[in-house]
Amino acid sequence: VAAALEPSKLIGFAGIPASTADAVTLPAGYRSSILMSWGDPVLPGAPEFDHQGGNSAADQALQFGDNTDGMSLFHFRKADGSLDMNRAMLAVNNEYTNGKYMLAEGEVKNAEDVAKLQAAHGVTIVEVRRTSGNAWEYVKDSAYNRRLHANSEFMLTGPAAGHDLMKTAADSSGTKVLGTINNCANGRTPWGTYLTCEENFNGYFGAPDEAAVPAAQGKYYGIKAAEERYRWWQHDARFDVSQTPNEPNRFGWVVEIDPFDTASTPMKRTALGRVKHENADVLVNKDGHVVVYMGDDERGEHIYKFVSKNKFVEGQDAVNRTLLEDGTLYVAQFNGDSDTHAGSGRWIELSFGKNGLTPENGFNSQAEVLIHTRQAAKQVEATTMDRPEWVSHNPHNGHVFCALTNNKNRGVKEDQPLNAANSRAENHYGQVIRWEAKDGDHTAETFVWDLYVIAGNPAVHQGTPYGGSAQVTVENMFNSPDGLGFDKAGRLWIQTDGNDSDEGDFAGMGNNQMLCGDPETGEIRRFLVGPVGCEVTGLTFSEDYKTMFVGIQHPTGAFPDYQDGGKPRSSIIMVTREDGGVIGA
Ligand code: FEO
Ligand code: CA
Ligand code: CA
Ligand code: CA
Repeated sequence: VAAALEPSKLIGFAGIPASTADAVTLPAGYRSSILMSWGDPVLPGAPEFDHQGGNSAADQALQFGDNTDGMSLFHFRKADGSLDMNRAMLAVNNEYTNGKYMLAEGEVKNAEDVAKLQAAHGVTIVEVRRTSGNAWEYVKDSAYNRRLHANSEFMLTGPAAGHDLMKTAADSSGTKVLGTINNCANGRTPWGTYLTCEENFNGYFGAPDEAAVPAAQGKYYGIKAAEERYRWWQHDARFDVSQTPNEPNRFGWVVEIDPFDTASTPMKRTALGRVKHENADVLVNKDGHVVVYMGDDERGEHIYKFVSKNKFVEGQDAVNRTLLEDGTLYVAQFNGDSDTHAGSGRWIELSFGKNGLTPENGFNSQAEVLIHTRQAAKQVEATTMDRPEWVSHNPHNGHVFCALTNNKNRGVKEDQPLNAANSRAENHYGQVIRWEAKDGDHTAETFVWDLYVIAGNPAVHQGTPYGGSAQVTVENMFNSPDGLGFDKAGRLWIQTDGNDSDEGDFAGMGNNQMLCGDPETGEIRRFLVGPVGCEVTGLTFSEDYKTMFVGIQHPTGAFPDYQDGGKPRSSIIMVTREDGGVIGA
């Protein structure tokens, strides 16, 4: 990180102050509008959203799901093969549900309540069209629209598909799964498919007593007997592990979806490992292998890399669509210096028979290594990280960035001692780490790393590590970086999901927000502040980078409808410039 900051040539707007207003705040010359909110109708026959709570589970299955998160925009192609700049499919995750606003009694009381929550999870895929200028609208009833939720059909592929640990009474093949849940962030492939990542799947499972929870599910993935947040297991036997102990093994995967084919079965890609997946950052290495970087968001978990066995071939999309079925999974080890926050690292292969992943240590096949990915990572002594959230690579130089959002257990729990990359005890501000593959080769075993930014509060903690790195000031400070994404010009967009109390250690930071970083100079400017209670998560652009789509998740004030007695609704907003220019420039 540069010590003295030159004004960024990459960032063209003036940073904005923190805010606690119940509104989306943007720099001068920018405006926002709503594209789609929780409950908006997307499939034929769907009713409008009812602010009084009258929508049923069946209605919800036809409407936009709750808690918008990662998303990608896929432009249609015209007959001549060129991109249609005015028409696209938007695939977006619906991570979890706000029962408080969704259910009559604010929490699950019966099977209908569970069915409604299940219908509000998953993925929504809608056609969007440019209306005028850089404004877009989604097309209600488009034949391309699709909802995937906790009861839709999925196929398991790759080394763990069909393994005994994947079989259930309802699916003796161990390949046909109902549902995708807790779809956090996303990825997109160069061959035009959408990747949705299953994160905190454990929270939907439960059992009448602790003895019924399989040991590996409890210890490594956090499945608990008396789960009370969602209570699905009380009304849907599939989520009661005393009845269906293998069902959790069918979740925690990266799922590949064709956003243009409503008849296609989405594929759960077991070769990419089973963790609490945050996002999946896909790139084509210089030798043609496809590399996917992934974070596992939990305190003390790890960063992963998948390298495809076969190579990407431009235009051969039928073949490219099999690339995520077969390859090698690695987990990262970061070594270095806690004072300079830099060092080297290596990728440790998670293949059966190597690095102690053997029967003596409880691994009998590659399928078992993948189903028990977290256990395998511990076996090979991967570095424990401060909750790896989104990963994104700089399209200009291949440097890879990962948001380490926070970790109250760092330096507190014995299994999460301080290390060079995660060096602050009780880290509630977070940091963004970056690495450079050796010789720019993403299949290489080694890399060098540093911290791009260490978040902190220089007003409260000036002169200590909790004041943050040099580019963090009282004007731009934030906590808990989560969403990350580069635009085409190489600007790094950072979204936060942190403490928005605006008090104590967080005084002066305001609501959750979005910032823009210059990866070369290190400068960071605040770009957007979200409404009360929300986290800002999910980011994609139109192909001309003149419309930015941003997710506002779990707002708790009156956003977006500001109706008396109405409900707050998770929404996708569109950010544009009054002069029609490129966002951020
Ligand atoms: Fe769903 Fe780790 O955020
Ligand atoms: Ca996140
Ligand atoms: Ca988060
Ligand atoms: Ca979230």
